[in-house]
Order: sequence, then C-alpha cells, then structure tokens
Amino acid sequence: MKINFITLFPNYYKPFVSESITKRAIEKNKLEVKIIDFRKFADNKHNKVDDIVYGGGQGMLLMVEPIDKAMETTKGKRILLSPQGKPFTQAKAKELAKEKELTFIAGHYEGFDERIRKLIDEEISIGDYVLTGGELPSMVLADAIVRLIPGVIKEESHANDSFQNALLDHPQYTRPREYKNMKVPEVLLNGNHAKIEEWRKQKQLEKTKKVRPDIIERGDDEK
Ligand SMILES: C[S@@+](CC[C@H](N)C(=O)[O-])C[C@H]1O[C@@H](n2cnc3c(N)ncnc32)[C@H](O)[C@@H]1O
Repeated sequence: MKINFITLFPNYYKPFVSESITKRAIEKNKLEVKIIDFRKFADNKHNKVDDIVYGGGQGMLLMVEPIDKAMETTKGKRILLSPQGKPFTQAKAKELAKEKELTFIAGHYEGFDERIRKLIDEEISIGDYVLTGGELPSMVLADAIVRLIPGVIKEESHANDSFQNALLDHPQYTRPREYKNMKVPEVLLNGNHAKIEEWRKQKQLEKTKKVRPDIIERGDDEK
C-alpha cells in the first residue's frame, strides 16, 4: 500500500515512519509513505496557503487550490481529516486496509475552504473533540490501517483485538502468577485450550456488554 500525507507540517511524520510497525512495514515493502508539503503548491511568491474568512470570522482558512494541486499528484481515495467527518472505526480501518493507495489531508488553523469537500472521497473524524491539526488524526488512521495489511503483523495478533469481532478484547495475564494478592485465573494455567477459548469468549462478551453495549448493537463486524 502507498499512503500519502498532505500536510503543512511534514516533520510531524518523521517519528511515525521511523519507529515500530510502520518502520517494519516500510522495510518489508508492504508500505510506501510519501509526505507532501502543500505549501510547495502555493501559487504566490510568499507561499501563502491560508487566507481570511469571507463574511468575517476569527482566524485563517486553508485555501482550496494548493491542496487540490497536491492531491492531483496522488492516486486512490482522498480522505479529509476533520472533526465534522464520520467517526473512525475498526470496520473502516479494515475496509481501507484493502486499498492500494490512500491520501490523507491534514488541516490546520480554522480548517478548510468548504469547496475542498467536493474534491475528496471521505471525511473522517477521530472523535468528538477538536485538535490543532489533522496530522495526529491522519497518523491514527494510518497506524490502525497499516497493522491490518496482510503480512505486516501476524494475523493471530489482531484476531482478538478489541472491535475486531464486534467485541472488546478478553483479559490477558503474564508472569508472575500472583501479584499483590491478585492471582491469574486458574483456567489459563491448566493447558486446556478448549476451556481457555470458552473462558476468553465469555469474558469478551461480559466486558463488552458491561462497558460498550453499543458495539454489540452496532454489530459492524462479522462475529
Ligand atoms: C482547529 S481544527 C479546525 C476545526 C474546524 N473549525 C471545525 O470546527 O470543524 C484544524 C484541523 O485539525 C484537524 N482535526 C481537528 N480535530 C479533529 C478530529 N477530531 N478528527 C480529525 N481531524 C481533526 C482537521 O484537519 C482540522 O481541519
């Protein structure tokens, strides 16, 4: 997969491409990342990409043309990061992990000239709060997607992840067997894999019903 990040702040992405799973995905040729500074597409001598808001209002708005020109250098789906978009989910991550090329457009300041919305494919939000820029949201999406690209991590590693099967993950334990009087459940220590599976499924259901019943109701993933 190829991921393009269209941004005014390319340095945000340096640690993202040089650490952990993204780094490994790039090394394994499963992922190619291109960071596109849309200031380079400004059509004026001061490389200005933002301007005042028509009709009045606080702050500066990103102009449509430099972003449009930057997007023209890419292929595939164009995704605008915005608090006004549809909330991001694991189901959306799975869907986007099948694409060959994706472009994420990160806003800043007061956001985008409205006409950008006619030139993109999807508008996605990472939650009901407002961040300074779309760089972190674009990396949130990219991280969730890249780990689902076949061959990036072992499939078993995310098979039981929260949301993967419309359920939260089950409790997990490692050494020691006892800590501050808290014991690892006996069922996990006896090597009976059928019983362990049963217990895990039961715990997934219990926890999801208790803290996120909406995930089960939404059922946006195969069980
Ligand atoms: C300060 S915000 C602008 C918010 C805009 N005035 C609004 O209320 O929709 C600047 C940029 O940060 C990004 N951003 C902020 N919050 C976000 C969120 N929850 N999800 C995705 N992107 C977000 C978007 O790219 C946005 O254009």
